[in-house]
Amino acid sequence: MTRRRRIYEGKAKVLFEGPEPGTLVQYFKDDATAFNNQKKGVITGKGVLNNRISEYLMSRLSEIGVPTHFMRRLNMREQLVREVEIIPIEVVVRNVAAGSLSQRFGIPEGTPLPRSIIEYYYKSDELSDPMVSEEHITAFGWAAPQDLDDMVALSLRVNDYLSGLFLGIGLRLVDFKLEFGRLWENEEMRIVLADEISPDNCRLWDVKTNEKLDKDRFRQDLGRVEEAYQEVARRLGILPEGGPTDVKGPKTLQ
Ligand code: TMP
Repeated sequence: MTRRRRIYEGKAKVLFEGPEPGTLVQYFKDDATAFNNQKKGVITGKGVLNNRISEYLMSRLSEIGVPTHFMRRLNMREQLVREVEIIPIEVVVRNVAAGSLSQRFGIPEGTPLPRSIIEYYYKSDELSDPMVSEEHITAFGWAAPQDLDDMVALSLRVNDYLSGLFLGIGLRLVDFKLEFGRLWENEEMRIVLADEISPDNCRLWDVKTNEKLDKDRFRQDLGRVEEAYQEVARRLGILPEGGPTDVKGPKTLQ
């Protein structure tokens, strides 16, 4: 199957050379990791669902004027994206206390935050993605002050839009992580949304029951992990035709 040059392999995705210069093929795996690779597993069908969910959310965001790397979905597990220079910063936006914020400050999970909070983490497996400040980001040259301004403005728009979109299908967007890249077009550089938006990098809780419908089911061994990803796709109205049986793609690449 692999005729194309593999550019990069991450924990949940593989990037291949695309059909035209300046494009890449993003392949979604079923592999899942947590706690900086200490916990490993497979969530059957996750790659197919995340490919579809990310396509849907990136397309909606593009319609409201948020620039993204997404071009089009190619098949069950692959999408065509623009090649960008990834900025090595994870931008986390939080609306409700959960996860590492709850741990760090002793705030019970589920406590609404007085306002949305943005955090930055430096992408480094060796260092376990340490939290960093704007000062670190600009002083070490990971992003210019203007890049960072653009990233924050885009993150807040994404938060506003996706919070409303998910609320409409009975889900609370507790927090999420975004990645950005630099895209050059005719000597001009733009910051665009990259990577993926899926239950791998969002916390989504049912509004009525607070049931977790995201990767925390895997992180915390809550069971019904596959079902949670399917439920998000179902509520978005994009569960692949044929339902869950359609979702069992090839287990490994090659
Ligand atoms: P945290 O509470 O563990 O810091 O996670 C905040 C949000 O960021 C949560 O929605 C999960 C997401 N996230 C990632 O996508 N990748 C990561 O490596 C981590 C630590 C969190």
